[in-house]
Amino acid sequence: MATRAARERILIVDDAADTREVVQRNLSAEGFETFAASGPQEALAFLDHSQVDLVITDLKMHGASGLDIVRHVRENLPGTEVMMITGYATIEGAVEAVKTGAEEYLAKPFTSDELIAAVRRSIGKLHLRKAASMPAEQSRASMYGLLGASDAMQEVYKAIGKTAPTNATVLITGESGTGKELVARAMHYSSPRASGPFVPVNCGGIPEGLLESELFGHEKGAFTGAIESRAGFFQTAGGGSIFLDEIGEVSLAMQVKLLRVLQDREVCMVGATKPRRVDLRVIAATNKDLVSLVKKGTFREDLYFRLNVITIAIPPLRERGDDVLLLAAYFSRKFSEELGKPALKFSDAALAALKHYDWPGNVRELENVIQRTALWSEGKEVDASDFPSLMRFSAGKGQGAHKTLSEMEAAHISNMLSSVGGNKTKAAEILGIDRKTLREKMKRYCLE
Ligand SMILES: Nc1ncnc2c1ncn2[C@@H]1O[C@H](COP(=O)(O)OP(=O)(O)OP(=O)(O)O)[C@@H](O)[C@H]1O
Ligand SMILES: [Mg+2]
Repeated sequence: MATRAARERILIVDDAADTREVVQRNLSAEGFETFAASGPQEALAFLDHSQVDLVITDLKMHGASGLDIVRHVRENLPGTEVMMITGYATIEGAVEAVKTGAEEYLAKPFTSDELIAAVRRSIGKLHLRKAASMPAEQSRASMYGLLGASDAMQEVYKAIGKTAPTNATVLITGESGTGKELVARAMHYSSPRASGPFVPVNCGGIPEGLLESELFGHEKGAFTGAIESRAGFFQTAGGGSIFLDEIGEVSLAMQVKLLRVLQDREVCMVGATKPRRVDLRVIAATNKDLVSLVKKGTFREDLYFRLNVITIAIPPLRERGDDVLLLAAYFSRKFSEELGKPALKFSDAALAALKHYDWPGNVRELENVIQRTALWSEGKEVDASDFPSLMRFSAGKGQGAHKTLSEMEAAHISNMLSSVGGNKTKAAEILGIDRKTLREKMKRYCLE
């Protein structure tokens, strides 16, 4: 198919019909597509439904100022340049025009050459600006169901893209709620094993006594109650991937058995005499610092090395820049749709609160905050005051100035609990205290 470079579209705004005509004629002769408006109102109405590359506006028109147009374009139309024309080359006019965002400034009378040169400069700047804001070749705002346009997330996408085709063991690290499981799924479903099963196992959630038979399966009669032989997660994941979540929680005794699977790709069912080969990929995750567990002696160094062939470190949400706004908009659409309500609209203060909050519970906490906001929303613009108090405090410095330390602590604990969906183990972990201390504090502050 033959393609022709699109002609640049230029809107000329001037209340003097003769100026409009001259400018239009000159620019059309140069191959530009031109449109005209006799004043700001007409211009804004036109820009409401039509996209142009450049707006050329007169500064002083009957009872109106071209500056309003400059401002409107600057604030609302990032893909449009704006240029100012004035009847008299006043310094004040030029200064104001430039301050408002009109980079090119043309004083009457001007020759057609001067006009065209200025228009070409403006269009050149527009192209530069568009190129700079265009995502680089591999940069993207989402991948495999993961959302995020930040540099930090680009690294994660790259790592998934590189390792998914291989069979290498992968260790995913990151704070609670950063998306470790989502990354593991992305890894599996973009791998050659995608048509095989993805089997997630929460190693921290299965009681120690049960974990072995759950993972490895058992033979009939292996222990009291083992009436039938039963496959474990390792067998179920055959041909696919097993996701060993919270690997840092596994006991030393279990670690030895896992090491064997990783080394020999063999699984021995409880009560069986011979191991069997398994064809699977192992993806593990932890929010613990395994190196320090190795130093403490609670995690085997050899297992750590086996797991740590490829590590994908997921950055905390607070290090992902504007991704927090992208995710907030996404969750707002998702929950509003579920509730049959219009998507949430955030005030500037609300956006600032989202951006400046620390997000100790990461994406999960954000998801919960937005879900709660959507649930309570009555269609009004969401303000910072609609968010949990802790977020408001961290966003607007000093807002907690009149609170006591205990009040702050109570608010912090309460918010943390709601951000992790009431999961005390998680809340205690993020807060850096043990569960018992958390329970005591909850009792003291009547948060039960
Ligand atoms: N980049 C992302 N884009 C969209 N949703 C995300 C993203 N990261 C996480 N989520 C969502 O946030 C929630 C938490 O993610 P996930 O369970 O993968 O985190 P995790 O790191 O495994 O957390 P934990 O350590 O608490 O187990 C999920 O609902 C997930 O869908
Ligand atoms: Mg998880």
